[in-house]
Amino acid sequence: MTFTGRQVQLTAYPDGEVRPSDFRIVEVDVRKPGPGEVLVRNTWTSVDAGLRMRLREKGPDGYFPAFPLDAPMDQIKTVGEVVESHAAGFERGHTVWHASGWRDYSVVKASDQPLAGLGALRRLDVEAAPPQAYLGPLGGNGLTAYAGLFRVGELRDGDVVWVSAAAGAVGNLVAQMAKIRGHYVVGSAGSEEKVRDLLEVLGLDAAFNYKDGPLPELLRQAAPDGIDLYFDNVGGDHLRAALAALRPWGRVAMCGMISDYEAATPAPGPDNLFQAVANNLTLRGFRGSANVDLLDDMWRDVGGWLRDGRIRYRETVVEGLENAPEALARLMRGDTTGKTLVRIA
Ligand SMILES: NC(=O)c1ccc[n+]([C@@H]2O[C@H](COP(=O)([O-])OP(=O)(O)OC[C@H]3O[C@@H](n4cnc5c(N)ncnc54)[C@H](OP(=O)(O)O)[C@@H]3O)[C@@H](O)[C@H]2O)c1
Repeated sequence: MTFTGRQVQLTAYPDGEVRPSDFRIVEVDVRKPGPGEVLVRNTWTSVDAGLRMRLREKGPDGYFPAFPLDAPMDQIKTVGEVVESHAAGFERGHTVWHASGWRDYSVVKASDQPLAGLGALRRLDVEAAPPQAYLGPLGGNGLTAYAGLFRVGELRDGDVVWVSAAAGAVGNLVAQMAKIRGHYVVGSAGSEEKVRDLLEVLGLDAAFNYKDGPLPELLRQAAPDGIDLYFDNVGGDHLRAALAALRPWGRVAMCGMISDYEAATPAPGPDNLFQAVANNLTLRGFRGSANVDLLDDMWRDVGGWLRDGRIRYRETVVEGLENAPEALARLMRGDTTGKTLVRIA
């Protein structure tokens, strides 16, 4: 018996802001899984800032591939339940993650290694955490935060840490992890409500709304003696302000540059890069997916902090697969807090 399911397809590359009208929902036949494959009924799918860079005819060199038009959108993390399995180790009813997202049903080859291996079909322990947590703190966001702070940023005793986009999926986790390790943590975000949450609920030492004035001044007020580690989710003017505030031997964990993602042409680099020379700074870009070897360590530590209530897990849930494009548009304009998720079923 064949049946159908919906999938989201991109019909035009957005010029500037993400527009739901650049997508369509298509009803497609769902094929039977073959040997080594499973059929998954998807329940949650991920919405990530990085998807914006793939809504282009050609994405940045070395990054995940651009989405083709009028085709399924592959390599997006998703969680669901196995409906039929022809792959060893997977049975009907298992909750799994994979990377064939933004659709109702996926036929997944168990041996495939999408998203540099991070998106390979994997059974999830739903006794330990709800399924959607594996798209957030226990998924790629958790790994990116964990690897970026501890491995790439080399968090050291006494470091003063600044996290930008601190109310978002990755930033929220980084800020909380640095607090757990006893650091003075500054967070920045784009609304008063988010700033209040960072201070009053997450207990950061200082926080500011980057729209409130010149960034260097706002950062100086939050960290008068400077910073040692900047976790950069934004790039542009934020990176420039960090370079001016970093103390000798400071570090930048370059996670993302969201201020540039909707620009028609990339912005020029910061004009004060010489500060890196002057102060022996290290600026290091990284991909969470290049740190899959840390997944077990991350699950142990972040899983424990979630269970203890030391990490508060924030999510913005958008209902319905058909609203996935709108969810991405909301994330890009700062209208979500914590992990942005679409509940499919
Ligand atoms: N390297 C990796 O492997 C990796 C993996 C995952 C994510 N990332 C990066 O991490 C960053 C956060 O991604 P996410 O998926 O967790 O998204 P997110 O933080 O949940 O959402 C993005 C947030 O960025 C803020 N923002 C948007 N435009 C901005 C601008 N011009 N200036 C300052 N802030 C702006 C908005 O919040 P406000 O209200 O605060 O403006 C928005 O909510 C992105 O740069 C992303 O590319 C990297």
